[in-house]
Amino acid sequence: MCGIIGYVGKNNALKALINGLKALEYRGYDSVGVAYFLNDKIKIIKDKGRINELENNIDINDLPNIGIGHTRWATHGVPNKINAHPHSVGNITLVHNGIIENYLELKEELIKHDYNFKSDTDTEVACAYIDYLYKNNNDMLKTLHEIQNIFIGSYALCILINNDFNNIYITKKGSPLILGINTDEKIIASDISAIISYTKNYIILEDNDIGIINRDNYKIYNNNKLINKEILTFDKNIDSISKDGYDHFMLKEIYEENELINNTLNHYFNNNLLSSLPDISKYKSIYIVGCGSAYNTGLVGKYYIEKYLNIPVYVELASEFRYKKLFIKENDLVIAISQSGETADTIEAVKIAKERNAKVLGIINTYQSTIARLSDEVIYINAGIEVAVATTKAYSLQVLYLILLALRNSNIVINNIDKEINTIYNYDYKKYIKHLVNTEHIFFIGRGIDYYLSVEGCLKLKEISYIHAESYAAGELKHGTISLIDKGTPVIAIITDNDIAKKTISNIKEVKARGAHVIIVASDNINIDKEIYDEIISIPYNKYLLPILSIISMQLLSYYVAKEKKCDIDKPRNLAKSVTVE
Ligand code: F6R
Repeated sequence: MCGIIGYVGKNNALKALINGLKALEYRGYDSVGVAYFLNDKIKIIKDKGRINELENNIDINDLPNIGIGHTRWATHGVPNKINAHPHSVGNITLVHNGIIENYLELKEELIKHDYNFKSDTDTEVACAYIDYLYKNNNDMLKTLHEIQNIFIGSYALCILINNDFNNIYITKKGSPLILGINTDEKIIASDISAIISYTKNYIILEDNDIGIINRDNYKIYNNNKLINKEILTFDKNIDSISKDGYDHFMLKEIYEENELINNTLNHYFNNNLLSSLPDISKYKSIYIVGCGSAYNTGLVGKYYIEKYLNIPVYVELASEFRYKKLFIKENDLVIAISQSGETADTIEAVKIAKERNAKVLGIINTYQSTIARLSDEVIYINAGIEVAVATTKAYSLQVLYLILLALRNSNIVINNIDKEINTIYNYDYKKYIKHLVNTEHIFFIGRGIDYYLSVEGCLKLKEISYIHAESYAAGELKHGTISLIDKGTPVIAIITDNDIAKKTISNIKEVKARGAHVIIVASDNINIDKEIYDEIISIPYNKYLLPILSIISMQLLSYYVAKEKKCDIDKPRNLAKSVTVE
């Protein structure tokens, strides 16, 4: 969601901006733009659409040394050229990530001071307000300090000022921003992926930091004081962002799961390292917070932690967390799950947990992300960069770590599941999806852990294929939803838990009797009568890892449905990879 880039240095700024924007592309966007100094004037190129379309409008003879860029994921106003960033008002040109919640009040105030607006965005208002303050004080440091008490909401800003040819001004509150440092060039970005091809040295901006950045120097202030920021070195490998011959990043990432899962298992079990994980058995209550698929991993975690550690687990949608009555106490544990580590709602939930003196354990993919930094302890899942908007490998690794946490104090050893995962990869999904592609509604059902898996299977399918799908605890169908089952309605039933298999099978019979087309995803140790299904995806039995094995089959099922429907699989409409606004 919205990516920011800025470059000042010895090299071609436009090239750096475009490369940086491409690296940020995975976050999701619908418009793109750049602004740079050329012959002492600021030139802006922006439009709705993709980065390579923007590149066609760029004059290759333009060789600026300073500029800013942006990928926009529309919040206020439709995706179009006018609403795209950079915005320019008076002396100020800027790009923004976040939302200025009180922009309408600020707009009214500015209209009284003769400002006019072209776009529907909160960002143009922010730009005008900065211009308005700057006109009065002629001091950008002071201006950016003042906005801290005026702008309500979140922002990361990268600013150019007319006639100030050498400097980029930056600040942030709530939205991420980092500064990459080389001797004779500086790169500003929303995340590390956009600076890594230029430098491994970077600093992380904290809320209310204000920076003045130029080719040779940078100065960061907070609360009007010049501060010394620690320079971090990024020592991990970021795999080059390429599809490696796969048709889509999503497929590549599903195929990476085998190695990632098995490497993690080998690491903990071959080396006897399970006890190096945090001991969560000492807590009386555990809360798990996350959004979307991260929340869904929490459901699976709840099942395992309650089963093996006998501790009550409350799984909370981070987006609801701050608006509900909470019972978290000082000695409770809050597990925050996030691939990006930048999800605004999850960040807020973590802050609330900390205010209540609960311990926060982050299960995170992105190094040094905001949630990782806020957490008392962090487990990095080491999934590598995930580009496809729909999460796959991060989901599986998050689930694996939750299972490992639940088993930490046991003597259980889990063997490699390479063979089992390969079995699942090798099924002919085109056969299973025939009946799904041309349908409008699909139901997912399961009980207990299988219900939790059905929730994720269902989310995956709808987000990338645009088919309406619902997941139900199988026993709930009779309480209303079974009225929607008609001749041919696809129902995908998950049965991995032998203890409750019979109950789910009864529910499958009920939908079959009403004409449903049934696809079963079932563990191969469970006997299932051929009469009750049309297709079956058989999951090799594994005592502890059936959730991971079965979800991979559903990820592939969704992938092939979306592929057959010719959907934009890696970048589904309206979705962003990193949801940095509330
Ligand atoms: C779905 C998906 C989203 C994310 C959610 C949280 O495929 O990817 O539901 O799981 O937006 O994102 P993170 O994990 O970055 O906090």
